Amino acid sequence: MNRIFSVIFWATILSILSCSTKTRVIQKYTTTDPFIEGLISKMTLDEKLGQMTLFTTDWESTGPTIRGGYEDDIRKGRCGALFNSHTVAFTTRLQKIAMEESRLKIPLLFGYDVIHGYKTVFPIPLGEAASWDLDAIEKSAYIMAKEGAAAGLHWTFAPMVDITRDPRWGRVMEGAGEDTYLGSEIAKARVRGIQGNSFDKADRLIACVKHFAAYGAPFGGRDYNTVDMSERMLREVFLPPYKAAIDAGALTVMTSFNEYDGVPASGSKFLLTDILRNEWKFDGFVVTDYTSMNEMVAHGVVADEADAGILALQAGVDMDMQGAIYQEKIKKGLKTGEITMEHIDRSVRNILKIKKKLGLFEDPYRFSNPDRERQTIMNPEHLTIARDVARKSVVLLKNNGALPIPAKVRKILVAGPLADDKDNLTGVWSASGEGRHCVSLLEGIKSHPASGAIEITHVKGCDIDSDNKSGFDEALRAAAGADLIVLAIGEHKDMSGEAASKAMIRIPGVQEALLEALSATGKPVVTIVMNGRPLVLSKVHEKSAAVLEAWWLGTQAGNALADILFGDYNPSGKLPISFPMHEGQIPVFYSHKNTGRPFDPNSKWNTKYLDLPNDPLYAFGYGLSYTTFSYSLPGADRTDFSGSQSVSISVDVKNTGNYDGEEVVQLYVRDLVGSVTRPVKELKGFRKIFLKKGESKTVRFTLTPADLAFYDRNMHWVTEPGEFDIFVGSDSNTQNKIRIRYSK
Ligand code: BGC
Repeated sequence: MNRIFSVIFWATILSILSCSTKTRVIQKYTTTDPFIEGLISKMTLDEKLGQMTLFTTDWESTGPTIRGGYEDDIRKGRCGALFNSHTVAFTTRLQKIAMEESRLKIPLLFGYDVIHGYKTVFPIPLGEAASWDLDAIEKSAYIMAKEGAAAGLHWTFAPMVDITRDPRWGRVMEGAGEDTYLGSEIAKARVRGIQGNSFDKADRLIACVKHFAAYGAPFGGRDYNTVDMSERMLREVFLPPYKAAIDAGALTVMTSFNEYDGVPASGSKFLLTDILRNEWKFDGFVVTDYTSMNEMVAHGVVADEADAGILALQAGVDMDMQGAIYQEKIKKGLKTGEITMEHIDRSVRNILKIKKKLGLFEDPYRFSNPDRERQTIMNPEHLTIARDVARKSVVLLKNNGALPIPAKVRKILVAGPLADDKDNLTGVWSASGEGRHCVSLLEGIKSHPASGAIEITHVKGCDIDSDNKSGFDEALRAAAGADLIVLAIGEHKDMSGEAASKAMIRIPGVQEALLEALSATGKPVVTIVMNGRPLVLSKVHEKSAAVLEAWWLGTQAGNALADILFGDYNPSGKLPISFPMHEGQIPVFYSHKNTGRPFDPNSKWNTKYLDLPNDPLYAFGYGLSYTTFSYSLPGADRTDFSGSQSVSISVDVKNTGNYDGEEVVQLYVRDLVGSVTRPVKELKGFRKIFLKKGESKTVRFTLTPADLAFYDRNMHWVTEPGEFDIFVGSDSNTQNKIRIRYSK
């Protein structure tokens, strides 16, 4: 009797305790939104897991699996979001299934990779980064969001903010290059452009910062490969752009395929909870990358997919992209007690909050207006802006006077496999963009007013990637009669992007041989390189009179390039990533450490190659203009400062050449002695200024102690007292500097 009494007593006590624990946990995760809480209280477990499930439609494939049956899933409330689903007609049809045939009528969320334009295609992100023009980048992001939203979308998987120092990695084209500061500024601009301040006008999309984290550092530059680096490097170099995007308001985050410190990102509590939620106070939802939850089995950290789901949910993943693990397998964790209903409710809440923010509960069809879709997409104003952004993204790498095309030129040969190509100009990840809407280089040149008085001939000469030289003769015959040759060579667009890593980053096929043959005629060759990544351009540099790095410029590529060739626009782009002289130098980046044996050409025992220089062919921040700029020595309002004081650094920049033009004035910092070693230079500020011919301007930067901070020996974020060199110049090679001293 006593035993029975004691069992009942403890059972009662335990149930009171577990009730109060539950209440505490629920209180911790509960929003104050009664609507969302009310909805959650009505949902079955399957409906909750459905909200945590994202499937691709069969419209197109951006990964290894496609799953049918999603319409039935919508009906049963077993899928709350779909991607690769766009256009008003298609999304409305699916939304109707959710609103008319599912039990709780929770609106669907539609996502898509709108990365650099929806239908009006802008330059690839790496190209836009070369503009160093944050307003232009924000505007381009706004237009892509506006077109996407008009096409029934709510959510884009952008911006991609992965820093990379390896041009072999195909996804280098999707980001902003090698630098943390530039990457962070661009991340903010893109989030501002995509999300704006509100969704009131249904002309913005939810941003998704990706791929969290350090996806841009795979060993050997091989996509999906292992990432391993110190926490110091992770925090100083790779994490800041994600943080910047989140601080700018990005509402969703996508995990990466790679592991960090032995744990795949989709199962990393360190990344997803400790850093993202606890340190950075991220308040939106986290989605995996395409089946990256399932891939944790192949990574070898879980035995099966159910365990992968449990690990992911415990780590902080709210939504499963395409894996169907949350939908089908994770319930096991509830039975074993490894996960609880609180975990699930927390994720559902994170997701429903975003649907509410979009206004979908008030009107699930707010993004589904066919008239607006027609009027918005490829609106002429968007094309004008796309042309402007494209011009700003081009980098002039060499010019011996061949550009802008001199007035005396009467006959131009436009040659090369990319001279009249349209399909490649969109680059990859071009959403709904189509080659047929792009202006080819040849079309741009021919329709430019300046070409009226010029005879233009066109010969392809060779293909992008073949050994066939049979077209060379015709090209050479045409060259004989020309005053100038414009040669467009480079990569096929599919040679960069996801799963497109390369060991050799050379211009493919016989394109360089065509350049050599044309250059041997003695006619000046202006080479336009179109590509998604830094290539080894040593031969191109040597054999060309002028070189333009033109990336994939998008819908208005040909017009933008014609503007530059004929001098309507003076090139102002600067490289956001170093271009190596040879693959053997990779990774080559400007913000390296000094080492204990810095480079010295006159001695053996120091850090160098026997067979290659240390420096890249073109350094980070490099880019020429048709004019020239001179810089004064930098000045400072004080060279000694302390506490929370700031320093104003100023420099006079003068346009000393013959054209009006823009210059990107770049400020770099070097901490001479730290408790841990510091890079030889770190970008900490830049300004893009316009100067008329002969004009001067004083450019000022404010440096605060926070700009000089880093993780010290004990991993504390501090500004250490000491001396700093502040460099201000036109690229990362600048030696134009002033020394300042900071004390506590
Ligand atoms: C890519 C992501 C992309 C996703 C959805 C994945 O393969 O890594 O960047 O957003 O597919 O298309």
